[in-house]
Amino acid sequence: MNLRFAFHALFSLLLHVFPVSAVTVTVDIGTTYQEMDGFGFSQAFGRANDVKNLPAAQQRQTLDLLFNITNGAGMTILRNRIGSGGLGDSIEPNSPGSSNATPTYVWDGDDSGQVWFSQQARSYGVSTFYADAWSAPGFMKTNNNQNEGGYLCGVSGESCSSGDWRQAYADFLVKYVQDYASVGIDVTHLGFLNEPDYVTSYSSMQSNGEQAADFIKVLSATVRNANLTDIKLTCCDATGWTAQTNLTAGLITSGVENDLGIITSHSYSSDPTTPMNTSLKVWETENADLDGEFVPNDWYSSGAAGEGLTWASNILEAIVSGNVSAYLYWEGAEVGATNSALVDISGTTPQASKRLWALAHYSRFIRPGAVRIDANSDSSTDLKVAAFRNIDGTVSTQVINSAASVQDVTLAPQGFTVRNGTGYVSEQGTEFGRLGVEVSAGEVTGIIPGHSMVTFVLEI
Ligand SMILES: *[C@@H]1O[C@H](CO)[C@@H](O)[C@H](O)[C@H]1NC(C)=O
Ligand SMILES: *[C@@H]1O[C@H](CO)[C@@H](O)[C@H](O)[C@H]1NC(C)=O
Ligand SMILES: *[C@@H]1O[C@H](CO)[C@@H](O)[C@H](O)[C@H]1NC(C)=O
Ligand SMILES: *[C@@H]1O[C@H](CO)[C@@H](O)[C@H](O)[C@H]1NC(C)=O
Ligand SMILES: *[C@@H]1O[C@H](CO)[C@@H](O)[C@H](O)[C@H]1NC(C)=O
Ligand SMILES: *[C@@H]1O[C@H](CO)[C@@H](O)[C@H](O)[C@H]1NC(C)=O
Repeated sequence: MNLRFAFHALFSLLLHVFPVSAVTVTVDIGTTYQEMDGFGFSQAFGRANDVKNLPAAQQRQTLDLLFNITNGAGMTILRNRIGSGGLGDSIEPNSPGSSNATPTYVWDGDDSGQVWFSQQARSYGVSTFYADAWSAPGFMKTNNNQNEGGYLCGVSGESCSSGDWRQAYADFLVKYVQDYASVGIDVTHLGFLNEPDYVTSYSSMQSNGEQAADFIKVLSATVRNANLTDIKLTCCDATGWTAQTNLTAGLITSGVENDLGIITSHSYSSDPTTPMNTSLKVWETENADLDGEFVPNDWYSSGAAGEGLTWASNILEAIVSGNVSAYLYWEGAEVGATNSALVDISGTTPQASKRLWALAHYSRFIRPGAVRIDANSDSSTDLKVAAFRNIDGTVSTQVINSAASVQDVTLAPQGFTVRNGTGYVSEQGTEFGRLGVEVSAGEVTGIIPGHSMVTFVLEI
């Protein structure tokens, strides 16, 4: 034990025995904000097959870590990639010749393992399936390539000698949804773009808001004609909040806000620090620390990009400041993972990162249909708070202590009475443990360790 650690331990002990005055967090059930749809990730680009190909025991452990509500993260949304490449990737691997020629669809019932993965997710109770295309097939685009950007032929300002492919792309997407229905998976959300503000060597397609709207009008009618009345269309999965804000403005100006269900954005190039200017729900649909080496043990060490506490804070900010109704990480499980994944499946035992446990604090206790309610901390401490009322009546309160010192917290309920409370804690050395909670005189108290996240689950 080094001196600094010894001092820290003594200090923590003293604080436990003589805590500095408790911070009161008021939780007001009468003030409500956005409805929550859930938390999730993707197994795109072959990662679903990586899990499918594991030995049975490891497969089960991996799925439990991601989806199990009692011993895993209890995730509730899966984002699948609608392939746009050749045979085995796309359901329309070859051009029919021109935009109004009859397409030849090929459905292999597997979709790079994503069908199996979706069925596994559903066995854990997942019912929100977001199917998203990164690009249209190359032959529908100005650059005749599913990669390297390029535009959908037929949107404003972009024409091709092979014709206007908007209807063909809409038909292609609807066929994909019908193919999933044929294997028992209802796609609930459908997107046709991924990072339209970014040109790259893998499947990508450019668009501004007006051009996206040109296509949304066609897609919306096609989906209605196919009787897919419950499906929610999304746009546009831009690289970050600033880019998506501009795209959203273009969609609204073009009059397609009511054709959409959800505004979707990633948060690589800018963070969800303010609400998007829309009356629609907003989802954060992709983010990760793409560069870092896998740091399975780091809940908090230096505040680095891959650590658990960093992601705990990222998610809270997206919900409270960005008004998001869902938060999706990039990939769930990966072989030889970097921080782009939550679980590394290269060894004989799947290894969860602390990011997974950060997500568990949200996904296990903020179930689909929950409504965010007001939570406020009474002092300018380093506490960040959020609270939610679930459909089953429970109230969950998430508290992040970003300071090094222990903090006593008292939850003061407004508009409800607490019958019982349970606490869960993640800190360095404890991935997801129980925290002692006291309920007395209608208030709930708990001691929040330094650099930790605590969730209080209240029965009311
Ligand atoms: C989740 O894990 C628990 C405890 O190991 C197990 O009993 C349960 O069957 C799992 N749930 C599912 C849906 O597999
Ligand atoms: C559309 O849905 C309605 C109501 O469920 C049903 O009666 C009708 O047959 C469906 N039409 C098609 C073309 O699937
Ligand atoms: C916003 O989008 C419009 C087109 O919809 C584009 O002309 C403009 O350059 C964009 N602005 C920024 C800051 O990206
Ligand atoms: C938000 O949108 C409204 C109408 O859709 C518009 O009048 C207003 O200027 C926008 N505000 C910002 C900050 O973009
Ligand atoms: C937050 O999102 C909801 C939709 O989920 C919307 O109705 C509400 O206006 C948004 N709040 C703000 C402050 O933008
Ligand atoms: C309160 O919750 C704890 C943990 O779930 C449980 O052990 C205890 O029996 C509950 N007490 C009451 C009075 O419901």
